[in-house]
Amino acid sequence: MGMTLQEAMAARHSVRSYESKAVPEDLRAQLQQEVERINREAGLDFQLIWDEPSVFAGKVAGAQNCVALVGPKGADEKVGYYSAQVLLKIQQLGLNSVWVAMSFNKKEAAKRCKLGSDESMLGAVAFGYGTTQGKPRKSKPMEALCKVDCPMPEWFRAGMEAAMLAPTAMNQQRFVFALEGDEVTAKAKLGPLTKVDLGIAKCFFELGSGHKVA
Ligand SMILES: Cc1cc2nc3c(=O)[nH]c(=O)nc-3n(C[C@H](O)[C@H](O)[C@H](O)COP(=O)(O)O)c2cc1C
Repeated sequence: MGMTLQEAMAARHSVRSYESKAVPEDLRAQLQQEVERINREAGLDFQLIWDEPSVFAGKVAGAQNCVALVGPKGADEKVGYYSAQVLLKIQQLGLNSVWVAMSFNKKEAAKRCKLGSDESMLGAVAFGYGTTQGKPRKSKPMEALCKVDCPMPEWFRAGMEAAMLAPTAMNQQRFVFALEGDEVTAKAKLGPLTKVDLGIAKCFFELGSGHKVA
């Protein structure tokens, strides 16, 4: 049996060193399907790049595969939200990953993609068989990441615990969730890539809580 999305959130850690072992065809097909679903559903243009170490040479040891995160310019939060689903699917397939904004050769990646004039590549999810499973890291405390005026409902706490597992650029965690009545909102603070981070954190919160974020 495969792992649930909740289990995948807990098991996922950034992995920055990979085995040379190729990803087998059946897993390739499953990931391809997931990327197609996302592109259909969200109007994104995520693209798979297989067996191309030059995209990562000198940046992520041994990495040779990635999902290029291509979408309409300015769609940072949406790209983040759906990149989270890519990360979790990869984990469910028994593979490891790392989100990269800097640690890849974007020109090499772009050569292997189709990019429309209204599109940009915000980053990539490198993936494959890690030499390790990665490890848990520190998080800001929950109180620093949310505002709740009433006693915190259990579902909201579960959402925050998931959001604390969400990867963010340089582990910056510059997002704040709020509960007003029964509506959840979330905002990004200022800084580089904080909108992407917010999208990822919202996806994790929704999976952890079972509640939509406005
Ligand atoms: C938008 C974004 C950009 C990132 N860019 C890089 C990168 O260029 N290089 C890198 O090694 N890690 C990068 N990371 C990975 C983060 O450093 C990592 O997710 C964070 O430290 C939390 O660790 P965890 O993923 O193990 O939970 C990025 C993550 C995100 C979400």
